[in-house]
Amino acid sequence: MTRYRHPHIPASEITPESLYLKRREFIKQSTALVASAGLATPGLLSAQSASTPDWHERIPEASATQSLDESLTDEQIVTSYNNFFEFGTRKRDPSDWGHYLRPHPWQIKVEGEVAHTGVYDLEDLLRPLTLEERVYRFRCVEAWSMVVPWTGFPLSQLIERLEPNSRAKYVVFETLYDPDQFRGQRRSTIEWPYREGLRMDEAMHPLTLMAVGLYGKPMPNQNGAPIRLVVPWKYGFKSIKSIVTLRFQERQPVSSWQAMSTNEYGFYANVNPDVSHPRWSQASERRLGEPGRRPTLMFNGYEDEVASLYSGMDLRVNY
Ligand code: MTE
Repeated sequence: MTRYRHPHIPASEITPESLYLKRREFIKQSTALVASAGLATPGLLSAQSASTPDWHERIPEASATQSLDESLTDEQIVTSYNNFFEFGTRKRDPSDWGHYLRPHPWQIKVEGEVAHTGVYDLEDLLRPLTLEERVYRFRCVEAWSMVVPWTGFPLSQLIERLEPNSRAKYVVFETLYDPDQFRGQRRSTIEWPYREGLRMDEAMHPLTLMAVGLYGKPMPNQNGAPIRLVVPWKYGFKSIKSIVTLRFQERQPVSSWQAMSTNEYGFYANVNPDVSHPRWSQASERRLGEPGRRPTLMFNGYEDEVASLYSGMDLRVNY
């Protein structure tokens, strides 16, 4: 396996020099600003710039216009009511303990049935990609939901660069395993590392996002810094956080939740109000920050876009 190998990137997709120079100008100006405010010691300044990834500057500002006719969930709720078992099982654990995670620098291992296997710096993977904002409904299997402006890029853009071969039927994702950073991994709550998978056509679907930020800011640690999946028509547990491995393979993988409780969590995990979770109904949901409940929509409201992926499948069996 080659370390730090770049996927083949056509020259047309490399960031234009003018933009690159603008970024440099920005850094120069802020450095001057900090220095003139008397805040900088040379050592401190270089340590700071080394730890701030270039791509943070390319995160588009949160836009007021949004594609859904629903209010955004309050940012404070989205960043303090979390499921991230690596930090613990309580909703507050990820925001309370998230500062232990070190999301920069970050590397992603690509392996399996794909031309460009290797270990890549996240910085290099992101350089040729354009980050955009997408407002998605997000529905957790625990029957709460929210509306979040994510920043990211379609997973398909990355997969195309990596060039999977014809045996690649599924993509498997794994979260970092490091009990020093993730105190929850000191207990065997689930089978670590957290693992999820998508069928290749699901992974290539234009709605499937690799997210690196929310509300126009870099991804907070508790939401899965520096990079996570967001699959808006599936229950939230599919949207794996803090990804370090992408594996392309022929056989259907077993996700961590399936491994733990096969009768509660299926591989597909498509939002389906007609299929009850063994311990509760899936017919309605509580929108965080709003009173009452609302009916849950098939495929979380993305039926027009994704139903064709599952035509001919029995969604009661393939839950
Ligand atoms: N990813 C990892 N690595 N570990 C987790 O515990 N929880 C999942 C998903 N991704 C989880 C994860 C579940 S159950 C949900 S509902 C969402 O993350 C929650 O995302 P949020 O905290 O950003 O709302």
